[in-house]
Formats: sequence, structure tokens, C-alpha cells
Amino acid sequence: MNPIQAAYPATRLRRLRQNEGIRGLVRENYLSASDFIWPVFVRSGEGVVEEIPSMPGVVRRSVDKIVEAAIEARDLGIGAICLFPYTGLEERTEDCAGAWDPENHVNRAIRAIKAAVPEMVVMTDVALDTYNINGHDGFVVDGQIINDKTVEALVKMSLEQARAGADIIGPSDMMDGRIGAIRAGLEAEGHQNVMILSYAAKYASAFYGPFRDAVGASGALTGDKKTYQMDSANSDEALRLVARDLSEGADMVMVKPGLPYLDICRRVKDAFGAPTFAYQVSGEYSMIKAAAAAGMIDEERVMMESLMAFKRAGCDGILTYFAPAAARLLRG
Ligand code: PBG
Repeated sequence: MNPIQAAYPATRLRRLRQNEGIRGLVRENYLSASDFIWPVFVRSGEGVVEEIPSMPGVVRRSVDKIVEAAIEARDLGIGAICLFPYTGLEERTEDCAGAWDPENHVNRAIRAIKAAVPEMVVMTDVALDTYNINGHDGFVVDGQIINDKTVEALVKMSLEQARAGADIIGPSDMMDGRIGAIRAGLEAEGHQNVMILSYAAKYASAFYGPFRDAVGASGALTGDKKTYQMDSANSDEALRLVARDLSEGADMVMVKPGLPYLDICRRVKDAFGAPTFAYQVSGEYSMIKAAAAAGMIDEERVMMESLMAFKRAGCDGILTYFAPAAARLLRG
């Protein structure tokens, strides 16, 4: 910051705000469709596009419809898509074997997208919650989430995704040691170019509520995730987690949720300078949609303002359900 500033009236800060031309010249941050990673939900079936009641405007798609979404994203200038599976209770097991099934919805979707839109960057989610009968991100034994056995499973899951053609592996589980283990697994199998975007600072948050409906986990989840996801009161701990994940081989890091944790985004970017992403999560999305539907706010303007906040806070990119709507608006 330049500390030199003349006193009023020599300095009138409003001079630089008097019209759009000058505001454009001094604007510090920009949003572009290439900043977005679009999270999408993939489910079984064919030709299926199904509304998600807790997330107005967001749908679950069968693999063929996911391919159409990838084409839409490409045409809008969105470079990356992130896949989450919807799994009904009948598809979930205690051993979570669906997570490393080469034919699960996500792995089939990766292959289909890569065949149809090879330039689309495909990111995946690595965690057991969408395959687990009890909705937790790790194996549960005697009521405890067990770390090291979960990490072994996460490596198997990641390798299947890499074999299917995933570009970015996104471990969202918060187990200790998983980044190093996944990186070693990828290197050992020749996936040198597969990237890891670590959900490094992921908080135990009530803002994930609508997502758990979207993936079918709400009915499944027993208890909470506080023994592995972060305490929302903590900030220094986020830096320790990011440092740890970068030292284990993460290429990029994420802060999650987004808007309530912009202070963490800024600290992470300033401390490490690594590619830093924020996840504008389901609850943030649904709050804006609900307030707009009630006529309380202007949806488009609040959407764009909330997305710009991430750039201002130092983020390089944003995972957001608004990706196609915002990209369309940016195109004019
Ligand atoms: C689970 C996972 C969650 C989200 C992404 N991956 C939920 C959770 O941790 O319970 C939340 C995303 C959102 O709310 O939009 N591994």
C-alpha cells in the first residue's frame, strides 16, 4: 500500500469513481468463466435430469446428460467440471467398495466426458461419504472414523479415477496423510501429470446441508464430522493443514466453505502463494437462491458480487454451482 496521500481536498477519492470508464481503469480484480470449476452431480440411468429440492436450479444427471453439461460448459468458456456421485441408500455399503469400482457413476462419467470433450479439465471428489452406508468420509469402526485404513481406500479410489482419465483428484475427506499416499500411488502407476487439489482447510460446516441431500447422504449420516473436519473457530490450524498438504505433494489447495471463510483464503494465499481455490458450497448457493426467490435480493447482482469477493480475497478460482449462470452473464 502506498502510504502517501494528500489531505482533502487535494485527495478526493470519489474522483476515481465518477463514471464506468474510470472505474474500469482502476478496477483491481476481474471475474472470468475460466475462474470457475463447476460441480455437477451424476447418477444412474439414462436420459435422467432430476431436480434437487434443496438446491433450486441444480440437477442430478445420468452420464449421457453429464456429457451434455460438459459441452455446455465448454461452450461457455468454463474450463473445469467437478463430479460428485448421487448414491441411493441401496447403493451404499459399510466397506464402501463402490468408491473404487471402475464402473461407478463417476468413473463412467469421466470416460464419457473425456471422449466427447477431451479439453475439459475433469476433477473428482475423493472421500468415502457418497458410498458409505453411514455417510462418513472414512470407515467407521466402533463409532470411530479410522484414519489409516481409510487412506488406503482413498488411494484405490484415486487410482481408479486417474485410470478413467481424471485430471484433478480432489481429496475432500480430511484424513491425515492422504495427500502423500495418493501422490505416491499416482507416481508409482505413471500418472505424473494428474494433479491434486487438496481440500486442505475444510471446516465442519452446516453450510453443507443442501449438498448432503444432493448426494443422498442426509438420511445416511450418523453423528457429525467434527473429528476430521476443522473447527470453525480456528485459523492458524488452516495454515498448518495447507503447509502439510503442499509438502506432501498437493498442486493446489482449497478453502471450504467460501464466503464465511474469506479471511482464511487471504491468509492462505499470502502465506504460501500457491494456487488457492474456494468452494462456494451448497448452503451459500441455496441461501442466495432462496432470498432471491422471496424477492429480497437481486439474484444476478448478489451472485456476481459474491463471486468477485473470492477474487478480492486472493483466490485463483472458485468452485461454484453458479458457474454456468455467471459465465452466461459474463458473456453478456
Ligand atoms: C464430502 C463433501 C461435502 C461437500 C463436498 N464434498 C460434504 C461434507 O463434507 O459433508 C460439500 C459441498 C457443498 O456443500 O456444496 N466429502
